[in-house]
Amino acid sequence: RTVNVAVVGATGAVGETMLKILAERDFPIDRLHLLASERSAGEKAEFGARRIVVEDLATFDPAGIDIALFSAGGSVSREYAPKFAAAGAVVIDNSSAFRQDDDVPLVVAEVNPDAARDRPRGIIANPNCSTMQMLVALAPIHRAVGIERINVATYQSVSGTGRRALEELGRQTAGMLNFQEARPEVYPVQIAFNVIPHGGDFCDNGYTTEEMKLVWETRKILGDDSIAVNATVVRVPVFYGHSEAVHLETREKLSAADARALLAAAPGLEVVDTPEPGGYPTPVTHASGNDPVYVGRIREDISHPRGLALWVVADNIRKGAALNAVQLAELVLAER
Ligand code: A2P
Repeated sequence: RTVNVAVVGATGAVGETMLKILAERDFPIDRLHLLASERSAGEKAEFGARRIVVEDLATFDPAGIDIALFSAGGSVSREYAPKFAAAGAVVIDNSSAFRQDDDVPLVVAEVNPDAARDRPRGIIANPNCSTMQMLVALAPIHRAVGIERINVATYQSVSGTGRRALEELGRQTAGMLNFQEARPEVYPVQIAFNVIPHGGDFCDNGYTTEEMKLVWETRKILGDDSIAVNATVVRVPVFYGHSEAVHLETREKLSAADARALLAAAPGLEVVDTPEPGGYPTPVTHASGNDPVYVGRIREDISHPRGLALWVVADNIRKGAALNAVQLAELVLAER
């Protein structure tokens, strides 16, 4: 049985990958609508072997759409997702617009898939990319021994910021190698050959919005408000793939060997962990273009009796956004 699908933000970094993944996984599509702003309406985008004309979201009639995948930013979601839901579509929203709402489930396919069924507003929220990969790795540990506290530093690629940020890193890198000055536009300071301890906006408590997402999204998805989370979000000059240095304190002690075995058997994860040069995942060697979340550098924290340290890497556009959205669409499909 096939369904009618709309991809909103189809010309963006995430939207384009949603199309790729829908085709790769043979998602059973009847009609497919690619939607974006009027700027790109009329252009053609690739879907498998087909080329499909992009339509203007503002004038599109959502009647008959079964599943809508949104990735066009928070304000577009706030305006249009309720309209698509009212027309009968299940909306899977990649923005942060609805993530905090109690009547919108926030779902990682491998972690809390059952939560996707309870969606009174017809909207399912896709978590932030950094939370997504961290929880694929940490949920099995939380279930086995309980997690008391998480301390995470991220090394986030520019693709998470969107297409203009990918272009900015490329342009600045090429320019600087040709002795030109970097002119920051998307990021507040130069991103080429630099690292920037800033993602999103600054909050009153001194943290950034991207850091606070790791705090409350973790609690909502794991369904445990007692988990303490401390995050530092850093943007690095990598095109695709986020990395995270995760330190956690568990309720019961878990040895590194037991953690390795637990994670090796968990869904969506691949353990790459041998103590030798290259025996760990990186964005370029493992994550970029691939589906799994990769975990390495698993070790017992020498500074804490119940501490564990891990290195978690994933393609932020795939598992961190487009892949999980398509997995959620598959869950919705399986209900029929
Ligand atoms: P467009 O290409 O027409 O601007 P990214 O995050 O990679 O920058 O992509 C953002 C996506 O969201 C693009 O597909 C972009 O379409 C789309 N988008 C941005 N603003 C709007 C809008 N007001 N209405 C519809 N689509 C939008």
